[in-house]
Amino acid sequence: MVTGASGFLGWNICQQAKSDWTLFGTFFSHSVNIPGVMLAKIDLTIFNDLKTLFRETKPAAVIHAAAQSDPNFCQENHDASYRINTEAAINIAGFCSDLEIPCVFISSDLVFDGLNPPYSEEDEPSPINLYGEHKLMAELGMKKRCGSVVICRMPLMFGISEAAGSSFLQPLLRQMKSGIEVNLFVDEFRTPLSGKNAAEGLMIALERLPDLVHFGGLERISRYELGKLVMEVFNFPNAKLNPCRQQEIQMAAPRPRDVSLTNAKALEIGFQPDAIKKSLERLKAVADKKL
Ligand SMILES: NC(=O)c1ccc[n+]([C@@H]2O[C@H](COP(=O)([O-])OP(=O)(O)OC[C@H]3O[C@@H](n4cnc5c(N)ncnc54)[C@H](OP(=O)(O)O)[C@@H]3O)[C@@H](O)[C@H]2O)c1
Repeated sequence: MVTGASGFLGWNICQQAKSDWTLFGTFFSHSVNIPGVMLAKIDLTIFNDLKTLFRETKPAAVIHAAAQSDPNFCQENHDASYRINTEAAINIAGFCSDLEIPCVFISSDLVFDGLNPPYSEEDEPSPINLYGEHKLMAELGMKKRCGSVVICRMPLMFGISEAAGSSFLQPLLRQMKSGIEVNLFVDEFRTPLSGKNAAEGLMIALERLPDLVHFGGLERISRYELGKLVMEVFNFPNAKLNPCRQQEIQMAAPRPRDVSLTNAKALEIGFQPDAIKKSLERLKAVADKKL
């Protein structure tokens, strides 16, 4: 069972897993059609509905990718964020424990404060916004309820999905094509990963069942440099990129400066991420069709 199949990552996981698994995906407000995947609408924050879902589907394994994934929304909607990002995740871990099945949880690089990168699995989390805090609370609560839960901390992810949830790439490409000026931080660094590579990594995690693993991409890069790479690969010479600093743009959620993740442990279990440019080149053909 893949929760959040209508989201960016859930959709990518379904593409990756559907040839090897009988897949059951969940969505909430965006109905989605993924050929080869059974889908059901559910609000995962309603305990009794979750209970029914597990009773009726009897999953052999769960990848929990559903979340409220916008840090600014979470900052301004504490209760809503807590209910889906923490409480629902802990309940899911509880049901997985009852059924004695693997449970893979998608956490985030935003559990770190960004002051001492790069972050390995040994580093102590210290979130600076509510989204990161609720993700960390989910990690801890899930571990308590289900000792075998697999916690996968993901970096910034990009790609083109046919689901409702999109990464930053699709809107960025639209802005570049139309010549709208795009503000991109020169002082915010991540280790981005394509949705495809992320889904590949998560399937390895489901097979190898590590306790905790960081799926950092191969390169540490600023938002601005990433934008320049997108502009080059997608060939938008007229795109207007405005290099700016975090402090120039007001946002609800504080943003860490550099939450680059390591990937040594992930590589050890068989993860093979591509360079960002190679991933972007692969995506270009798909994007040309969608724009
Ligand atoms: N995107 C990134 O760069 C990034 C980086 C690090 C970690 N993550 C984590 O990766 C996971 C996937 O992120 P994403 O980018 O794929 O997010 P997304 O595109 O925003 O998708 C979120 C998914 O969660 C579902 N959902 C939200 N509230 C729900 C509820 N109350 N009940 C049931 N389902 C609900 C959504 O369903 P509907 O759309 O149908 O409402 C959607 O399928 C999340 O845990 C996120 O925190 C993401």
